[in-house]
Amino acid sequence: MTAMLFNNLLSFFQSVFLFYVIWNGVLLMSKKKRVAVVFGGQSSEHEVSRLSACSVLKNINRDKYDVVMIGVTKEGRWLNYDGPPALIPEGKWQQAAEQKVLKRSENIEDTGSNSARQVLKSAGAEANNNTIDVIFPVLHGCNGEDGTIQGLLELSGLPYVGCGVLGSALGMDKGFAKIVFEKEGIPQASYKVVNRKGLDYIHGVMDDIEKIFQYPCFVKPCNAGSSVGVSKAHDRGELETALKKAARYDRRILIEEFINGREVECGVLGNDDPIASTVGEIKPCNEFYDYEAKYSSESTSAVDIPADLPPETIEKIRKYAIAAFKALDCCGLSRVDFFVEDASGNIYINEINTIPGFTDISMYPKLWEASGIPYGELIDRLIELAIERHNDSYRNINL
Ligand SMILES: Nc1ncnc2c1ncn2[C@@H]1O[C@H](COP(=O)(O)OP(=O)(O)O)[C@@H](O)[C@H]1O
Ligand SMILES: [Mg+2]
Repeated sequence: MTAMLFNNLLSFFQSVFLFYVIWNGVLLMSKKKRVAVVFGGQSSEHEVSRLSACSVLKNINRDKYDVVMIGVTKEGRWLNYDGPPALIPEGKWQQAAEQKVLKRSENIEDTGSNSARQVLKSAGAEANNNTIDVIFPVLHGCNGEDGTIQGLLELSGLPYVGCGVLGSALGMDKGFAKIVFEKEGIPQASYKVVNRKGLDYIHGVMDDIEKIFQYPCFVKPCNAGSSVGVSKAHDRGELETALKKAARYDRRILIEEFINGREVECGVLGNDDPIASTVGEIKPCNEFYDYEAKYSSESTSAVDIPADLPPETIEKIRKYAIAAFKALDCCGLSRVDFFVEDASGNIYINEINTIPGFTDISMYPKLWEASGIPYGELIDRLIELAIERHNDSYRNINL
């Protein structure tokens, strides 16, 4: 009798325990992740970032994620924004966020220009309270895609979408990326890097350039994007103007052999085992894919997905894209850009973009859509990859 009672009690407690375990599992699985989308930034690509962020906010699965919006003004102020995403592309979000700052001091940063320190404090505190699970920096160019924000996010202890400090910095700096690509045996245009200071003796610099390159050649700031400061120099006069122009944007200037060919791009997604998307072609409406050809409302530039290229060329490009991603220790995502030379069909890597454009019509999401991963799922994967990489980080392992 006592044994029966004991057995009944045991199975009762077992059932309660089982129920408790299952219920907690369900709760854990159904708990929405809190994702902070950071947009804007102190960059010449601030406006593009706002467009990208608006698309991310539109496509992110709200059943799975609670979304927090953090806008970074051009002056570097970090503001919490809780209004409609539709106000972000036009810039009207900032006024709304600033009005909130005046009323309450619940923003990540409320006054002053030295926001970064304050952000670190806030982001760190939030990590301890488990309120933000993942940060999604939708920032392009300097102070966003170049490792600086990534350093801040590393120190905050939060998982974040995209490449780490090293991959971001290398991907942003065209001169250093080229050194790594060269080491990896990825074909590219011949190049030379000069310092702004060297331009004090600009005629000597141009003599050296003319010994290596024929006209036309390309001149670009090592660290910039959206074709800002990029020129195609057809003669010595244009070379001088181009060098001076590039020097306005960076201390280091890249001079490159002109590749006469088609421009193609390939998406890469993953961490240690990245996959490559199909390849798309850019058809610039100007002599090259300059700022106007990229962003002007009058631009007639077009994209062709998949690119009309022989299958073996597409496969080679995908292979080089993954090689470039791994060579720079990228993780999460990148878009890798190439030229396919008209005369020879040879492939040359141009550059890697670690936070590529993310609007609905941008090449990166379009390439994945064409490869079977729709926009919303792409965001899911990026968030999962961010958590995976965070758990793998030496900073966590060595704690
Ligand atoms: N070596 C080159 N040969 C031919 N075209 C080039 C070369 N380098 C750049 N371009 C043209 O200039 C554009 C912008 O240069 P890119 O290096 O991609 O800078 P950004 O990072 O600003 O996009 C390219 O999309 C391409 O149209
Ligand atoms: Mg480019």
